[in-house]
Amino acid sequence: MKTIKIAKLLALFMIVVFYACSSDDTDEGGPDEGGNTVTKVQAAFKYSISESNPNILVLENTTQGEGEYKSEWDFGKGEAFVVDQPGLDMVEYDNAGEYRVRLIVTNSAGFTIAEEVIKVDSNGICLNNICGSDPGGDVASLKGAANGFAIGTAVQAGRLSGKYDEIMRADFNNLTAEYQMKMNIMYPSQGNYDFGPADEIVNYGLSNDMNIHGHALIWHNATPDWVENFSGTDAEFEAMVEDYITTTLTRYKGKVRSWDVVNEAIEDGSNELRNSVFRQKMGDNYIEKCYQFARNADPDVLLFYNDYNLTFDTGKQAAMFAIVDNLKAQGLIDGVGAQMHISYNGPTKEQIQSVVDGTVSRGLLMHFAELDIRANPEGDTNVSALSSQRAIAQSDKFKEVAEIYDAIPQANKFALTIWGIKDDESWLLDFWGVPDWPLLFDASFNPKEARQGFLEGLQ
Ligand code: XIL
Repeated sequence: MKTIKIAKLLALFMIVVFYACSSDDTDEGGPDEGGNTVTKVQAAFKYSISESNPNILVLENTTQGEGEYKSEWDFGKGEAFVVDQPGLDMVEYDNAGEYRVRLIVTNSAGFTIAEEVIKVDSNGICLNNICGSDPGGDVASLKGAANGFAIGTAVQAGRLSGKYDEIMRADFNNLTAEYQMKMNIMYPSQGNYDFGPADEIVNYGLSNDMNIHGHALIWHNATPDWVENFSGTDAEFEAMVEDYITTTLTRYKGKVRSWDVVNEAIEDGSNELRNSVFRQKMGDNYIEKCYQFARNADPDVLLFYNDYNLTFDTGKQAAMFAIVDNLKAQGLIDGVGAQMHISYNGPTKEQIQSVVDGTVSRGLLMHFAELDIRANPEGDTNVSALSSQRAIAQSDKFKEVAEIYDAIPQANKFALTIWGIKDDESWLLDFWGVPDWPLLFDASFNPKEARQGFLEGLQ
């Protein structure tokens, strides 16, 4: 173990600072020798990755407490605790894996612990715990060009080999199941889970150093019939939902990094909560119940709320942030997913920026989820090919979206996910029923101008 002490000045050379979450914040007191009440000191630290060596973690003890206390580090490497000294600690992690870094602060009233799990892969410590991205690496690939966030794609279990596999491994390091991690697929009949396709996707991603974004536990459009027509009591319904969320999150603990717990809860037009079967049976607070079930099942997994039209529809955006604020007040949410089903001519840069600003100001992670860009939003049924003019306009929009995402503060970056690989398989063809070419690759897997524009936006 190399532990090097350096001056705080070196902080200037560090990138990205993370704040460790504190645990054990009970502060029952105890008397000191003079009979005064002493309270525990809450442990706190920040960490960053050394810019000169991607395998070195830079730790700063930010604990602030009265009186005498002792701070000790557990670097998560199965070695003895190390007493903290003034200044920064630098610790080298040479082997790929996960490490639980802990700071233990003790005084006469007891101890508290702050901890963070860090991930290390062959490129060093994973920035924002996003492994598989290689900022110093191949800038001609999408994931290589992205600075401190993952590039995602929607994927299906039947599309994990051949050209799909080639493109995914070259350009992407975050996977979202396009439909096979939704309730109608994972829980087709009461008491019978089917995780077959989900497992295939998760195993493929993990064996290729990709993150998995779970999507979506509760979605009114993917609720199995037996749930829509549930025959038991409301209490039985709620117990069933808790079992479903617990079973799913427990299965994928440590494998799926993040989940959309509730997807698209807001009704179009009214911006009220959709009157889904979940709301009817569990009440208006069904959303917080579901996030609480998820948090209980896996305290470390990142929880997202995901919805569409959050950029230009200001009423919907406000309704979304009201849901998110309520969850945040209870410590039940980590990020916002803004579905980016957009068009070459809108929403505007400012409208996209507005959802970023609201997310960043709340200290949450931003997921640009489900990005596809319609080249034929007019719905012209006579158009048979993507014109060169539209191809350029679409490419410019992909570039703009990438630039907006790239400018997000590092601590709020998460992933930018494209909703599919190739044009002819985009869900939008069925959804709108008109010709379109919304993705980065054409029907023959050739990269389009759109991919080039997107890449330039990332670089
Ligand atoms: C779509 C998929 O692309 C389709 O394959 C599936 O049949 C239906 O769902 N919002 C979402 C996504 O959150 O899950 C949807 O994906 C598209 C709209």
